[in-house]
Amino acid sequence: MSRRKLVVGNWKMNGMRAHLDEVEAIGKLAAQHPAVEVGLCLPATLIMAGSQLKGAAFIGAQNCHMELSGAYTGSLSAEMLIEAGATWVITGHSERRETRGETNADVAAKSVAAHAAGMKVILCVGETLAVRDAGDADEVVTAQLLASLPEGASADWLAVAYEPIWAIGTGRIPTLEAIQSMHATLRAALASRIGQEQADAMRILYGGSMNGDNAAEIIALPDVDGGLVGGASLSAAKFEPVIAAA
Ligand code: G3P
Repeated sequence: MSRRKLVVGNWKMNGMRAHLDEVEAIGKLAAQHPAVEVGLCLPATLIMAGSQLKGAAFIGAQNCHMELSGAYTGSLSAEMLIEAGATWVITGHSERRETRGETNADVAAKSVAAHAAGMKVILCVGETLAVRDAGDADEVVTAQLLASLPEGASADWLAVAYEPIWAIGTGRIPTLEAIQSMHATLRAALASRIGQEQADAMRILYGGSMNGDNAAEIIALPDVDGGLVGGASLSAAKFEPVIAAA
């Protein structure tokens, strides 16, 4: 099954207008690698500015509220993010599940709201080191995915990102065998919920210390369809080898 590779940068809480030249340079990189779908999920303050730059990389957001509007101080709806220029949004990132108490139900509701507004979604799942060391990663991450999966999920608007929490920002990654095993397990879980055809079409990205040195071997794995990249996406120079590896 051929799935178009998807490589997305997640700048997290990094990037001021002074960094828009990097956003533009990454857009130019995307244009040089048309076989790969490339995106950049920016802080909300940069989305509008980033989306006005020329370039083939899509601009995404890192979170959205589950409601269309209302008394939710400090939040942004999917429609607001679309109006600002975002076309994709990350939901369920571990940094929000862990620090903002986001539940699987919250993640599913945010994903539904984003799709209803016309956005595409990257839904994140991943285990802690304690769960990995206890040998429970498959069970825990599969349950997390199925409990976070929005009603009507389909490959044309949703991708999954497997991000072992203990690999995010640490320079550590699972073995290639462990990455492939988890991705195959998640694809089987998807098949049990949305059918084999949709599961085979859905992109499952790897995230967690992916960089120019390891991207090629990770993305070459049969059930890895790209990457969700933090630190190695903060500049075009660092991001280029990751995009080229796809
Ligand atoms: O969302 C991607 C991010 O969590 C991975 O971060 O810096 O380990 O590539 P990093």
